Amino acid sequence: MEEFHKVRRLPPYVFEQVNRLKASARAAGADIVDLGMGNPDLPTNQFIVDKLIETVQRPDTHGYSASKGIPGLRRAQANYYERRFGVKLNPDTQVVATLGSKEGFANMAQAITAPGDVVLCPNPSYPIHAFGFLMVGGAIRYIPVEPDDEFFRALERAIIHSIPKPIAMVICYPSNPTATVVELEFYKEVVAFAKKHDVFVLSDLAYSEIYFDGKPTPSILQVPGAMDIAVEFTSMSKTFSMAGWRMGFAVGNERLISALTRVKSYLDYGAFTPVQVAATAALNDPDIDKHIDEVRQTYKRRRDVLVDSFGRAGWDVPPPAASMFAWAPIPEKFKHLGSLEFSKLLIEKADVAVAPGIGFGEHGDGFVRIALVENEHRIRQAARNIKRFLGTADETLHNVVSLDARR
Ligand SMILES: Cc1ncc(COP(=O)(O)O)c(C=O)c1O
Repeated sequence: MEEFHKVRRLPPYVFEQVNRLKASARAAGADIVDLGMGNPDLPTNQFIVDKLIETVQRPDTHGYSASKGIPGLRRAQANYYERRFGVKLNPDTQVVATLGSKEGFANMAQAITAPGDVVLCPNPSYPIHAFGFLMVGGAIRYIPVEPDDEFFRALERAIIHSIPKPIAMVICYPSNPTATVVELEFYKEVVAFAKKHDVFVLSDLAYSEIYFDGKPTPSILQVPGAMDIAVEFTSMSKTFSMAGWRMGFAVGNERLISALTRVKSYLDYGAFTPVQVAATAALNDPDIDKHIDEVRQTYKRRRDVLVDSFGRAGWDVPPPAASMFAWAPIPEKFKHLGSLEFSKLLIEKADVAVAPGIGFGEHGDGFVRIALVENEHRIRQAARNIKRFLGTADETLHNVVSLDARR
């Protein structure tokens, strides 16, 4: 039977293959160190949980909530932007709460895209950046991730050669999966480019607070005039370890925010009110900076342990400056296998799960993404396993070749 039109545009998640292998290894008793999915293992702060419990006891919070977010929550997000970035937002017209930033991003794509519209999207990138548009009949032209001169040359080429002309571009810094960061100067150039060519900018700032080495991540909305063409998505998933709560935001350009708000008003009734109230409390927390810094320091320690222990095991992993991920080149001997086969081998032979770079796009295939979602002890355990694995590389590769020959 022929697959549905939309489903045909969604290839089976590459990560599914790795997940299946991981599940069967675990079922067979293996102790897999899981550095695959970017699912924070840290608990949500107790006072946020308490606020949820307190609110859920009130029967008046059990009905449908506000699709665009309760007013206090939108005000809290506007205040966060002002404190953190010096960006003033009107909570009524420039802020909408979303069911996680992934939902917000996907529905923004739905709201602004006509069939055949071209959108510029980084590769490698978080899958919804491209698939949000592909699902609604848009077409993608890939752009690089690294914020260098070639980035802008690629943008210029995209404008010249795309028919029809692109309607929007996606950017994501700190990048998932590459952990690339940018400075405000870069955003200035992006805004100038977007204005010149009349394209919207959708900036995914999911890792706004997970930066190391003391350099806070900028927002594109800090650029004067950015509000004319840009929206930005933030998330409570990583900053507050609230991934399962599904709470994020889109802020910025009024026309785009209004389009997203309209689409959402047809689709959802907003997050459960107690979730919105607890999220408001989190954003208004007088100790917010201290709490966020604890999360940041935890990831930073894990990063340092990862880079050090994997390095000593024989795998040089560049230290990420931000995000929850290291973007690691596949060790030379295994490069020819590609990232999916290499990731499978790591599960089978080293009891370590990572995300294959190919899952983020064709340009990710020389890499795997290692998420900092297990504690330092477990990361060291992974490094010991990797050391053993690398020590027997020739034998392993020999067996892979003989297995292939038999297939
Ligand atoms: C770049 C990026 N954007 C968005 C998301 C989704 O976050 P949320 O939980 O807010 O939907 C993630 C999650 O990993 C991400 O890495």
